[in-house]
Amino acid sequence: VLDLAVTLAGALDGARRSLAEAGWAEPRLEAAELYSLLVCGPASAAWSDRERAISPSLAARIEAAVRLRCAGQPRQYAAGRACFRGHWLRVDGRVLIPRPETEGLVELVVEWAAGRCREAPAAPPPLVADIGTGSGAIAISLALEAPVSGVIATDTSPGALSLAIENATLLGARERIGFRRGSFLEPLLEDVVDAVVSNPPYITSGELDSLDREVRDFEPLLALDGGPDGLGPTRRIAEQAGRFLAPGGLIALETDSRRAGAAAAVLTHAGFEQVEVRDDLYGRPRYVLGRRAENG
Ligand SMILES: C[S@@+](CC[C@H](N)C(=O)[O-])C[C@H]1O[C@@H](n2cnc3c(N)ncnc32)[C@H](O)[C@@H]1O
Repeated sequence: VLDLAVTLAGALDGARRSLAEAGWAEPRLEAAELYSLLVCGPASAAWSDRERAISPSLAARIEAAVRLRCAGQPRQYAAGRACFRGHWLRVDGRVLIPRPETEGLVELVVEWAAGRCREAPAAPPPLVADIGTGSGAIAISLALEAPVSGVIATDTSPGALSLAIENATLLGARERIGFRRGSFLEPLLEDVVDAVVSNPPYITSGELDSLDREVRDFEPLLALDGGPDGLGPTRRIAEQAGRFLAPGGLIALETDSRRAGAAAAVLTHAGFEQVEVRDDLYGRPRYVLGRRAENG
């Protein structure tokens, strides 16, 4: 029986050949990356597991992922998985693939929530809203990592919301997140939150054509298109946030590094105080933060 078993090395060699025929310049690397996503493992998993006999179902999943990758799909869609802050999320064409830059936005909010709990230990933990939740990456990370009383996550896309709910359920965060369908902060209705966090669409409509083909052809336009100046959704969120944020509450938005100054000006114009721009892990200005006035 063992002789007939397919080892991982054998399956990945088949994958490498298909990927090479499809024109991938580094087919061995592609095959290894796909495998690590499929098993939610480290990049080295393809090497450390190479002598392992693999099940027919894993062999079929590798084959299916390779077929999608050969057709040009982004790796994460081909494997159906992405890792965000160590949390493995299901992803497909209904949602943006969460990016490492956004992990930094979450980090800032985790630090803010921890600081707030330290300064006011008797106060209830903060309630946070994640606007345009997509895969649920931000909302789920905050629910699992930050001292929050809960998260409200909104999106207009029903497909994104259903995948985000699936992810929250799989990762054990479902009970701490209220998912609501609607535009930006409108679904908050009567709720008052302590922080508004968002990675809104921020590419200008004119830049869409020059995006990498994998992004342009496969990721949802609704997640990317920020309108003529790329700041349409940022402006809407900033305008609405004053209505739903508690006095002194935080707004924390991701932005395009080329427009961080303009995004900060949007927050100032909307009446936020202590507006600042922070860098991402690559040293690019990426996050704009502000506070709602205590007496505003
Ligand atoms: C850049 S993606 C961010 C997704 C996820 N938060 C992340 O960081 O990976 C923007 C998200 O905003 C959603 N979106 C676009 N327009 C919206 C609107 N008017 N109201 C709520 N969500 C919206 C899109 O469907 C998409 O999921």
